[in-house]
Amino acid sequence: MGTPIFEMRDVEVASDAAEDDATNGAPFIEMRGIERHFGSVIALAGVSLTVNPGECHCLLGDNGAGKSTFIKVMSGVHRPTKGSIFLEGQPVTFQNPRHAMNAGIATVYQDLAMIPLMSVTRNFWMGREPEKRIGPFKVFDFKTADRVALTEMERMGIRLRDPGQAVGTLSGGERQSVAIARAVYFGARILILDEPTSALGVRQTANVLATVKRVREKGVGIVLITHNVRHALAVGDRFTVLNRGRTLGTARRGEVKPDELQDMMAGGQEMVDLEASLGGTV
Ligand SMILES: Nc1ncnc2c1ncn2[C@@H]1O[C@H](COP(=O)(O)OP(=O)(O)OP(=O)(O)O)[C@@H](O)[C@H]1O
Ligand SMILES: [Mg+2]
Repeated sequence: MGTPIFEMRDVEVASDAAEDDATNGAPFIEMRGIERHFGSVIALAGVSLTVNPGECHCLLGDNGAGKSTFIKVMSGVHRPTKGSIFLEGQPVTFQNPRHAMNAGIATVYQDLAMIPLMSVTRNFWMGREPEKRIGPFKVFDFKTADRVALTEMERMGIRLRDPGQAVGTLSGGERQSVAIARAVYFGARILILDEPTSALGVRQTANVLATVKRVREKGVGIVLITHNVRHALAVGDRFTVLNRGRTLGTARRGEVKPDELQDMMAGGQEMVDLEASLGGTV
């Protein structure tokens, strides 16, 4: 089979993608021909992709391309206007984010939904606190909670001095890791990360990307949204580029060069026009 530099896949071809994936069966999740309209705004105009256990599927695209809208459909925040979602080959309609979460789809948003003044342990367990019984009373089991939080963070490569430390005192990268560790501990099978590195410096970014690799090695499928082609290429197995609500294609690792991806993200022709208007300096 010839290896195209950049493979174009539309709605019909999407189901073929499942067959040549390593699992030999249905992908863990398949999004097929997803459209999402907001009034007259068409945020997504038919996007398809699949994610398998243990792979990192990067979703790239410029501002407003539809990346966040797409993962919100995937995680039950938005209902698709058109298109279907399949979990291990079975059609599914997510009624709400809880429904998607129970199906194993966890999302770490950029703002993280953590409480800075509360401890790492408290944030780790938020809403799922372990309890123990003392006579007729149920109390928060601090010892277990601390131990688990510490161990799980260590598994992500972050050594905390004290799980009682307020989350607000952690670095941005460490905070991302708390959110990721929490999702994995509570059984995520697909972990969606929306621009986890956009606000981070070089070292913190490297930490988060290392965490992504660790999680992938545990067999969790990852959807990584990023603007940054280098970050994507550092950890991605497959790359899907969105442009104005459409997929420009999905490429596998090794099939695409950084500048090709960059060009796709910028929308090819638009980049040429921009270069021309700036006198070839872009
Ligand atoms: N709730 C909404 N109501 C109306 N329009 C929306 C809504 N959510 C998204 N959109 C529109 O859909 C389009 C895609 O937005 P989206 O947030 O998905 O882009 P994105 O690729 O995540 O961009 P960024 O890289 O800036 O985060 C934009 O034009 C946006 O204005
Ligand atoms: Mg976004």
